[in-house]
Amino acid sequence: MVKNVSKEKTEHVCQLPEKLVEIFIRASSNKGDLVFDPFLGSGTVAVAAKKLNRDHLGCEIDKKYCKIIESRLKDTMFPLERFIKNNSEQKQLLKITSALTQG
Ligand SMILES: C[S@@+](CC[C@H](N)C(=O)[O-])C[C@H]1O[C@@H](n2cnc3c(N)ncnc32)[C@H](O)[C@@H]1O
Repeated sequence: MVKNVSKEKTEHVCQLPEKLVEIFIRASSNKGDLVFDPFLGSGTVAVAAKKLNRDHLGCEIDKKYCKIIESRLKDTMFPLERFIKNNSEQKQLLKITSALTQG
């Protein structure tokens, strides 16, 4: 479970750590696959799937938790790598990223 002092902690009582879920997703799927979680809770699986370039689908019965999921997903960027098709585009992305990080 995520510790109360962790930055990623939400109101959900049994939230899993993102890094742990990422290990499972990497081990059991490929980029572009669909990851399904029938018991989303705070949405950790959806968030990790999005970060790892997977599509995601899930269910959550409690509206309070649905709001948390919505907000977490909104704060999670789609990695640009998802749209990279070849080496030339990869180089362009590196240039843009370094320009942005250098200000
Ligand atoms: C153990 S928690 C999941 C925690 C999640 N792995 C996380 O990291 O936040 C299980 C969730 O399933 C939801 N749930 C229980 N029964 C459900 C049902 N029939 N359909 C959809 N969601 C359900 C609960 O509201 C609860 O938030």
